[in-house]
Amino acid sequence: MNRAELIQQWLPHGPQPIASETHFAPSNIALCKYWGKRDSELNLPVNASLSVSLDTLGTRTAVEPIDADADEVWLNGERQAPQSRFAQRVSGFIDLFRVHHPQTRLRVRTENNIPTAAGLASSASGFAALARALNQAFALELSATDLSILARLGSGSACRSLFDGFVEWQMGVRDDGLDSHGVPIEARWPGLSIGLVKVDEREKSVDSRAGMRRTKETAHLYQSWPLQASTDLIRLREAISARDFGLLGSVAEQNALSMHATMIASWPPLLYWQPDSVAAMQKVWQLRNDGLALYFTMDAGPNLKLLFEQDSRDAVLEHFPTLEIVQPFGV
Ligand code: PMV
Repeated sequence: MNRAELIQQWLPHGPQPIASETHFAPSNIALCKYWGKRDSELNLPVNASLSVSLDTLGTRTAVEPIDADADEVWLNGERQAPQSRFAQRVSGFIDLFRVHHPQTRLRVRTENNIPTAAGLASSASGFAALARALNQAFALELSATDLSILARLGSGSACRSLFDGFVEWQMGVRDDGLDSHGVPIEARWPGLSIGLVKVDEREKSVDSRAGMRRTKETAHLYQSWPLQASTDLIRLREAISARDFGLLGSVAEQNALSMHATMIASWPPLLYWQPDSVAAMQKVWQLRNDGLALYFTMDAGPNLKLLFEQDSRDAVLEHFPTLEIVQPFGV
């Protein structure tokens, strides 16, 4: 099934669109990663994943109808060229919502308080915030679950950014993907801390869509990934319900390194790491050997996200003085 057919059937008819308020959605960091699509048209994943949303770090977006031939897309106060990849992705996503009002053109104003496309998942918060703004503009009154399904069509991981705290993306089994969306996990974990080690904030050269395709098509090692991910997901659920930080950190770190192993085993090889990424990993391993409960995870980029608890904060800051720390559940 293609996305146009799905949307035609599924999305309700609304009135003429109006200007929306500004809507926020948080970025999220996966502890069990999504890597590989079973359907690239609908962004349906090979494996279920689990993330934590980053509280106030994310994207704010508002939309308004304009009298023009094309959408106008503004990112952090700068007008984006209509042919740019960013503007094209935004317009492609709006197409889903304007299916019953195809003449509508919108001005989109979006602000990120995280670096764009540096492996800090701004596309996740971006599509989630845009889905919320479009839901209001087109008066669709969709549920968070429905918005999660729509956000997934923009960027897979965006389906987890419709919810706060821990979120599982259940992969679903249906061909139309209507059972593949984020589901919030009740448990909270005050003091859980995520520290962003910014190795390089430039846009990565191979985006996650291309990276997933290459890995799935060329890395034999990828065959073991679904089993790794499903085992890790079960252990992460256990870690969260028992508040077992050692289990949470070790599963998240091994999961991220396993994903990167499949990328490295692709052809041509896909290595998102830079020398400073490896130096930071080795520092984490050394500190852990010295007794500090510190772990990391990484997405499709060179930056590390450190995982620790509040009582290790001072020690972690001593070794990573420029760390930006997020506490998704407060202190
Ligand atoms: O949602 P995408 O297409 O940007 O893919 C995200 C992939 C990872 O960030 C590497 C993993 C994840 O689950 O967020």
